Amino acid sequence: MEKIPTPQKPKEDSSYAFFDKHAKKYVALQREFYSDAPDTGRIFFRESLLAGIEKKTIVDIGCGAGDDLIAYRELGAKNVIGVEPSLAMLKERKESLRENHPDIQLVVGEWERIPLADASVDAVTTRYSFHVLTDFKTAFKEVARVLKKDGLFLIATPHPLHDTKMAKTQNIQPGKKIKFPIFDGKLEIKNPPHTMEEYISEECLEYFIVEENLPYSMHEDKNETDPTGLLLRLRRK
Ligand SMILES: C[S@@+](CC[C@H](N)C(=O)[O-])C[C@H]1O[C@@H](n2cnc3c(N)ncnc32)[C@H](O)[C@@H]1O
Repeated sequence: MEKIPTPQKPKEDSSYAFFDKHAKKYVALQREFYSDAPDTGRIFFRESLLAGIEKKTIVDIGCGAGDDLIAYRELGAKNVIGVEPSLAMLKERKESLRENHPDIQLVVGEWERIPLADASVDAVTTRYSFHVLTDFKTAFKEVARVLKKDGLFLIATPHPLHDTKMAKTQNIQPGKKIKFPIFDGKLEIKNPPHTMEEYISEECLEYFIVEENLPYSMHEDKNETDPTGLLLRLRRK
């Protein structure tokens, strides 16, 4: 496992300052709320990754507490790498990964600069870490750079319809962030709202084939009427 550098405070307006500040609380709540909950997004990711997994290098970007890294390792992936800019989030996982899964790599990095070689990865996954960006252009380019031909980019993200409704309810002006209460309102995150056109954008279609575009419910136990989540399976051309 990579050595994690000494923590430095991120800039207040960075996409990960919130997670850096609330790492301990976020990770504890994430485990409390989702460890046993049904999660269509995770099932979709794992089913998409399964064929030939023993030969695959899988990278989870914005891996946070890193629970998905362990799942990929247990499914038999050849190499598993977590990329995360928040040193505080990485620290939350560092010790337990070192003890139990010393072959899982953790790397400090961001969507805008993925610290991996060109065409070195079979699959990139992201669970609620892509929408933190205000602009996806550079990220699509970076993911396309590190993926091999036919590699997968799997995204679980808030559904644009849900973003639009929340922005309207909160009277959010273009360019501003919406408030997302999470874990039954125990934490509140602010994220930029996104449209479907931003996901299935020119940059996306330049590099990827859209194999799946599925609405789903982030909270399956709560009888949501509209889709709150979006699952995308993109294949590198
Ligand atoms: C909502 S959490 C999700 C964490 C984890 N994927 C999960 O499912 O629990 C968002 C994560 O994205 C990370 N993040 C924020 N800005 C990022 C960036 N520019 N590049 C990569 N990851 C980022 C945060 O630090 C945080 O760990």
